[in-house]
Parts: sequence; structure tokens; C-alpha cells
Amino acid sequence: METKGKNRKVAGRGMTVTLEMKKRIRSLRHSANLNIDSLADKSEVSERTLKKIESPKSRQKRFDEDVLMKIAKALNISFDELSGKQRQYKQEDNSVHFEFLAEQFREIDRMLLPLIRDHRHAGQRLIEHAYRGLLSQCLQEREIDLEQINQGLRDPVKRNAFIEGLPRPGLTVDVSEDFDEISYKYPPNEMLTVKSPQLLWDCHCDTPSTKQNDFECPIHSQSSGEEVDRRFSNGYVLIRYRDIEFYWRSSQELWPPSVDSFYMMEAMKTDGLFTKKYDSVLDIGSGTGFLGIMTACCNPYITEITLSDWLLTPYLYGTTNWFLNRKSREHIRLKTNTALFTKGLDSLAKPYDIAICNPPYLPLLDGFDEIGLESTVAGTDLLTDIILRNKDLADRIYLQFSSLSEPEAQIAQEKAGLKLRPVGEEKLVPFRMRILWEKADYLEMLIKERGLVEKNNSRHRFWHRLQTYVIE
Ligand SMILES: C[S@@+](CC[C@H](N)C(=O)[O-])C[C@H]1O[C@@H](n2cnc3c(N)ncnc32)[C@H](O)[C@@H]1O
Repeated sequence: METKGKNRKVAGRGMTVTLEMKKRIRSLRHSANLNIDSLADKSEVSERTLKKIESPKSRQKRFDEDVLMKIAKALNISFDELSGKQRQYKQEDNSVHFEFLAEQFREIDRMLLPLIRDHRHAGQRLIEHAYRGLLSQCLQEREIDLEQINQGLRDPVKRNAFIEGLPRPGLTVDVSEDFDEISYKYPPNEMLTVKSPQLLWDCHCDTPSTKQNDFECPIHSQSSGEEVDRRFSNGYVLIRYRDIEFYWRSSQELWPPSVDSFYMMEAMKTDGLFTKKYDSVLDIGSGTGFLGIMTACCNPYITEITLSDWLLTPYLYGTTNWFLNRKSREHIRLKTNTALFTKGLDSLAKPYDIAICNPPYLPLLDGFDEIGLESTVAGTDLLTDIILRNKDLADRIYLQFSSLSEPEAQIAQEKAGLKLRPVGEEKLVPFRMRILWEKADYLEMLIKERGLVEKNNSRHRFWHRLQTYVIE
């Protein structure tokens, strides 16, 4: 309940909002693209109270816990995360606690993202330098040592405690082997099934067109649709595919294994990924670790898996997902690398047997710099870097990309003097990116220049083609 007046008393349980908490609220609000006004709408807390909470001057004031809970909910985080209670979980004995790290890493990632995406003001070298500096400064300030975490997880007692301490997922998403059915399950025994899905989250409700209103949403047309939506967008989710489980939580720092990842897996399997004698696999831009972990679990010859991504949240989820699924595969060694592109892997004496990469594919078109800044899915720099590095990385490289980034891939192939060979089928898939719904000009350019397909007689309005390739 909110209270009014200058010398108001806090009704219910009150809490002093520390300066650190104020900064956290402001930074989460900014990264969720919310101004005070829109947060007020979303949380049902008045603008005036929100301003006071964020203001450094009101440091000594107490605020109603119910109000803070509403803010946490609107920002899609738990109350403990908002108040920083997880900090107490970092224990003296260096045991590793998932939620503590998840919160710290999200804060760091949200500082790294604007820096690494800002290609307007700085060249790549400068960005790399600044990225390394900021990453190590943020880790040092928080007294977090990634090597120590990795070491802690090698200890079976600490590892079990870490896995057992994972927050319980509110939703399990079962994806059938050929991606022809997805079931969303939540306690006690609720289940929503989507047949012949076109996306992992096959909803078209927010498409900016009335024509799409004629079609029923396979999720929201069902009675449990809203509840499944709430659980999918706000909490921990377990995505299950071929008996392998991936822990994931919706955030801009972490891609779920999406339709791209499932189709890429299928194409690589057709090409013999699970049966050929490969020893080591490198997953670049690993996200939840889906592609690398699936490979390590399904190919019986693998003895080493490396997950590499530029953000810390993927490092945490990739590591967690590996230990969730490792089971009796104790002979397989996990390595992690937090770096831009494939930096940090340079010191390897020999290339990997296979490298796999499902890079972002949204082109940065002239005049649309802000797309790169606002979105983690924009930019084709990882795609071109992999093509240019090719044989230094691995004996065989699998790469998937969208028809939207074909020109960049073509230029890189010409520079590298090689030709990518398509494997598996080309797939036409819906292109559904909420951040672009407001950017009609950019969508128009994608249609004109990059072959984005617009269909008015279909449930999804925009479509693009995905193809997996191999560099041998
Ligand atoms: C499309 S997601 C793929 C995630 C995962 N491999 C999958 O298929 O489910 C792309 C991933 O690449 C990472 N990434 C993007 N640009 C990168 C770069 N320049 N260096 C390293 N990682 C990058 C992102 O953080 C993200 O996790």
C-alpha cells in the first residue's frame, strides 16, 4: 500500500532502500526500456513514489515492502534480487550459488552490452580493449573469480550443492524430436500443447497488423495460455529436447534454444554430427550451451566441450546446463571462455575437431544504428569473423545464418577465398522480433533489400530463410 504526505508513515512492512538498490532499480528500468511513466503503469506504483525511490536524496527513507514487491514484479525479478539479498549467499567457503551469480552477472552484462554494441563511436579494437577492461573491473569489484568458480564446480560436493540450489523452474517446455509438438507443463498437472509449432514461442498476438487478428493464437486461445505466458516470460524455465534439459530464463542477455537452434541441430545430425569420430567441440556464441551440450551428449566420441560467449549470463547457464546433463559422462572435460568473438581461444595448440556457431543475423543497415544499440540480436560481426577465421578454429565448422545476412556472408566468403556448403534443408521460418515492431522503416528496408518475406494471409506476418552450412 502506498502512503501520502511529507511525513508519511509506511504502512505494513517498511524497508530502507539503499543507494545500491536505487541504482539497481534504475539500471533494470533502463535496460527494460521503461521510463518512470511506463514503470508506473506496469507496477501500479505512482510516478511520484517511483521518483522518490530512485532519488539518491531519499536514501534514509523507508518504503513499503509491498510497493517494492510490485516494482520487482514489473521488472521481472524476485524481491530478493531487487533487495540484493542474494549477496548473503556468497559464502566464506567459496561455494557457488546460482542466484547470487545470476544477479551479479546480469548487472555486469547490462553494463557490457551498450559498450560492445556501440559500433558508431569506436572501432573494433577499441571496443575489445574497453570490453576486457570493464569485464575484469566489474568482476574484481564484486570479488568474483571465474577460475575459482570453475574450480569450485570440480568439487563434487560443491557441484551437487550448486545444482540442488537451483531455483525450481516454474515451467517445463517439452520439444518433440522433430519439432512437431511442444508441450508446456506446470504444477500440479497443467499442460498446454501446441501442434506443428513454427517457433518455440509460437504466438503472433503482438504483431503490428490487424490482418493477423483473424488467426487464433495457438497459446493464448487456450484457457491456460495467460498462465503459461506469465511463467515463460518471467521465471525459470526448463526446456527439454531428446531427454536433455536446458535451464533458461527470459532476458536480453540469454537466448533460448529457439527454432534456429533446433533446425541447426537437425541439419548437423543429418550431416553425421552424432556419429562421426570427433573428440572436441567448440560452441561459439553458446547462449544456454544448447548446440555444444547436445553434441557432447549425443556424439559418443566427444571428450572435450568448450562453451564461448561474450556475456557472463551465458557462461553461468552454459556451465549449469552442462552439469545438469553430464550424468555419467565424467570423461568429458568442460572448458568455458568469456570473450568477444573467438578471442582467448587463440592460445590453443591445435584446432578443435568441430566448431559450431549460430550467430546473430540481423544486419546493421545504414541509418539504423540504434537497432544495433538496442538489440542483442543485431549485428553480423560474429558471422563474418567465423568465416574469416575458418581453419584456425576447427577442422570442420558448422554455421547457420538467415537469408537476411547473406550479403555480409558473401563478402566474407570472397575475402576468405572459400565457399560454404549447405547442409540439411533450407527452412522458411517466421521472423518475429518485438523490438522491430515499432521500426517500420527498418522492416521496409529488410523487405526491399534483404528479401524479408511479408505474408498477409498467414498467422505470422514476416518470414525469412534459415540455412546451415559447413566449412570443411
Ligand atoms: C543466436 S544466439 C545463439 C545461442 C545458442 N548458440 C543457440 O543456438 O541456442 C547468439 C549468441 O552469440 C553471442 N554473441 C553474439 N555476438 C558475439 C560476439 N561478437 N562474440 C561472442 N559471442 C557473441 C550472444 O551472446 C548469443 O548467446
